[in-house]
Amino acid sequence: MDSPRIFVTRRIAAQALKQLEGRVQMEVWEGSGPPPRAELEARLPHLDGLLSLLTDPLNAEMIALAGPNFRVLSQMAVGTDNIDLAAASARRIPVGHTPGVLTEACADFAMALLLAAARRVVEGDREVRAGIWRPWGPDILVGKDLYGGTLGIVGFGRIGQAVARRAQGFGMRLLVHDLNPDTHLEKCFGIQFVSLPELLRQSDFVSIHVYLSPQTRGMFNAETLGQMKPGAVLVNTARGPIVEPQALQAALESGRLAAAALDVFDPEPIPADSPLLAMPNVIITPHIASAAGQVRLNMAQIAVENLLLGLAGQPLRFCANA
Ligand code: DGY
Repeated sequence: MDSPRIFVTRRIAAQALKQLEGRVQMEVWEGSGPPPRAELEARLPHLDGLLSLLTDPLNAEMIALAGPNFRVLSQMAVGTDNIDLAAASARRIPVGHTPGVLTEACADFAMALLLAAARRVVEGDREVRAGIWRPWGPDILVGKDLYGGTLGIVGFGRIGQAVARRAQGFGMRLLVHDLNPDTHLEKCFGIQFVSLPELLRQSDFVSIHVYLSPQTRGMFNAETLGQMKPGAVLVNTARGPIVEPQALQAALESGRLAAAALDVFDPEPIPADSPLLAMPNVIITPHIASAAGQVRLNMAQIAVENLLLGLAGQPLRFCANA
């Protein structure tokens, strides 16, 4: 019997790909970006498995193209919002993902953005590079105090909890909103669960850690941004569509928000003419919260493990549509 045919939609860590050698017939997309849709469309009918990234649009239409031997979709990411899980389940295709290994790196990055936005690190750097070194002065690039400030964490899964542990060390008061609050965690993390309006009203900083779902899409819109404490800072390292870009722009222009730091955007990449790019109080990074060496290797290894398990007809280590 022929070994299974698989397609990997980007070159991932060599150490992880090595585990596939001799076990599968593998093709790896060598482009620096995702394969074009037509490429995936042409390949899907002939594959036994696919190792995907979050830039591959695996909607119901695409999943319907998978051939009769297709038996596993393994994504190298924790989020699977680019995949129609219901369509995959209807075809009995397990969808693998890589939770856990990126938690600490993503929490580090959320704190990095929070600190950078609060203390105007990027603004300072830009000024110096532009040849402007204003003499030390009492009101030069004065930012917001983290110590003693209130951080609102929206979503208290693994990453939200890891952010809470870090923020404790910075002497912050912690409010949390979660769609399914587990009140046992309040003592353990020194947090208080509150409603979203209450969190927005009281928080000096808000960091988003919910999955993208129909409930969270557009969660930060004109209404909710208008409920934020005047002068607050918003950090989004979760998914772009949770924050409506035009509403965010308006909240920054009106001065309702002091700053925003975004690692994700709707759409990605951010359009070159987005007015947010011209705002000095906005930090934008290109979806790199999990981009730390060991983390990316671990993600690749789990994605390969899930792929091999699925090809063998065994339960995946981490299955998003179990
Ligand atoms: C994920 O894994 O979902 C992140 O957004 C990228 O690492």
